[in-house]
Amino acid sequence: MTTPKFNSKVFLSPMAGITDKPLRRLTHSFGGGNIISEMVAVNALNRKNAKTYRIADVRDEDYPVTVQLVGGEPELFTEAVKLVEELGAAGIDINMGCPVKKIVNNHSGSYLMQDITRAADIITAARKATLLPLSVKFRKGWDHQHVNAVEFAKMCENCGADYITVHGRTRSDMYSGNADWNIIAEVKQAVNIPVIGNGDIDSCTKAQAMIEQTAVDGVMIGRASLGRPWLIAQVHNFLTAGIVPENLTLSQVKSVLLRHINGLKEYYGERTALSLARKYVCWYCKGMRNACEFRANFVLINEMKQAYNFIDDFFDTLQKEE
Ligand SMILES: Cc1cc2nc3c(=O)[nH]c(=O)nc-3n(C[C@H](O)[C@H](O)[C@H](O)COP(=O)(O)O)c2cc1C
Repeated sequence: MTTPKFNSKVFLSPMAGITDKPLRRLTHSFGGGNIISEMVAVNALNRKNAKTYRIADVRDEDYPVTVQLVGGEPELFTEAVKLVEELGAAGIDINMGCPVKKIVNNHSGSYLMQDITRAADIITAARKATLLPLSVKFRKGWDHQHVNAVEFAKMCENCGADYITVHGRTRSDMYSGNADWNIIAEVKQAVNIPVIGNGDIDSCTKAQAMIEQTAVDGVMIGRASLGRPWLIAQVHNFLTAGIVPENLTLSQVKSVLLRHINGLKEYYGERTALSLARKYVCWYCKGMRNACEFRANFVLINEMKQAYNFIDDFFDTLQKEE
């Protein structure tokens, strides 16, 4: 067992299709925070599928990245763990919380909360294969009739996980309703390994509230960081030094958005970057004046040059109105 050394009490959630290398770099550039990759499918990784291999490759990132694995066959984890070690992982997380049908039907993600023996075999296999910090991310339970996060957490601890992350929703909740922080507190009481709490943290004060209410060792932030890659650092600075964050100015937001798009362009090439930029622009501009109209026009763009012009015009107009 490896006692985990966290950079911070704050964790960026793994988010498929989002926490890719460009976003991880950008998030890290603000400081603070533990960074986790998108999920990596163990079967595709072991087959050396080129796309999966690239997702798992964190060797040129100059900060520790925990790589998240997803799969349902214990024997596949032995090789997958070795591969992600070679590809630069600083830690390994196992996804036992993903609610998506395709994943669940493959005996992986949150399916494993219903099959605790298989889950235990997976963690045991991964544990045997690595000395890196090993964690498991799971939910409150499968559904409201099967809330087993406490039992599941104890199993993770017994199988050698170094820490766990609990999302306070069941699989049947998907992402709706409020996350149940009480179950996170119950899990924290029940195990001796560190527990990271996850669900609905969207501000510094909410992060602090979760720590106070549940006694967790750290907090994980997902959706609230979309279009706000500076949030992880803000929460870190608040929790460590009591620094109350100031809102970013429009020109700061624009500059982060452009850095993000440039990072996407560098990593994926212009075509893919443009389609990803459509999604990100919506998040960065949320709540701004005329954002709806801007978004509606931006998604029709099919050239990067035009995208930059649109962003310039949108922010210039807002700045003039200030
Ligand atoms: C678009 C999206 C993709 C996600 N992908 C993953 C994933 O690959 N692995 C994982 O463990 N959780 C994934 N999650 C769940 C988040 O990590 C997190 O548990 C969830 O969003 C709750 O936290 P929040 O309320 O801070 O968003 C994803 C969530 C979203 C919204």
